[in-house]
Amino acid sequence: MTKINLTINGQATSFDGDGDMPLLWHLREDAGLKGTKFGCGIGSCGACTVHIDGEATRSCSIPMSSLDGANITTIEGLADGARLHAVQEAWIEEDVAQCGYCQAGQIMAAAAFLKDVPNPTDEDIDNGINNLCRCGTYFRIRKAIKSAAQKLQNA
Ligand code: FES
Ligand code: FES
Repeated sequence: MTKINLTINGQATSFDGDGDMPLLWHLREDAGLKGTKFGCGIGSCGACTVHIDGEATRSCSIPMSSLDGANITTIEGLADGARLHAVQEAWIEEDVAQCGYCQAGQIMAAAAFLKDVPNPTDEDIDNGINNLCRCGTYFRIRKAIKSAAQKLQNA
């Protein structure tokens, strides 16, 4: 296949393997970015959520062949150097995580969501984010998203 050029967490990189390989595999197995998790593998749970050109996207369902020129951000690249993203800060303050498995995906989904809906209600959050959490942390997720929204507005 032809070579795919892409950017991952600000670093230019390339890929010339199997174009059908899902982005999630490339991130975890080639790039060593294990923060993005495999849950269902069928685009349903959201554990594998990353940003592609700023949009929250399920990386298990995106073939590498579609990513030439794409700009990918994973949970490892969400902070600005040592400065955490407002969503990450809020997640820590609200102690959102339980087992933690879904949480990188939740945070990436929330960060992208708040760009579109800067002051969300519970209903907006329920309609805008459908990542699954088997531990049922949805109440704290909503709280943290609202807190992050405040932080972003005050920034
Ligand atoms: S692992 Fe990608 S949506 Fe579940
Ligand atoms: S914190 Fe355990 S699955 Fe969400």
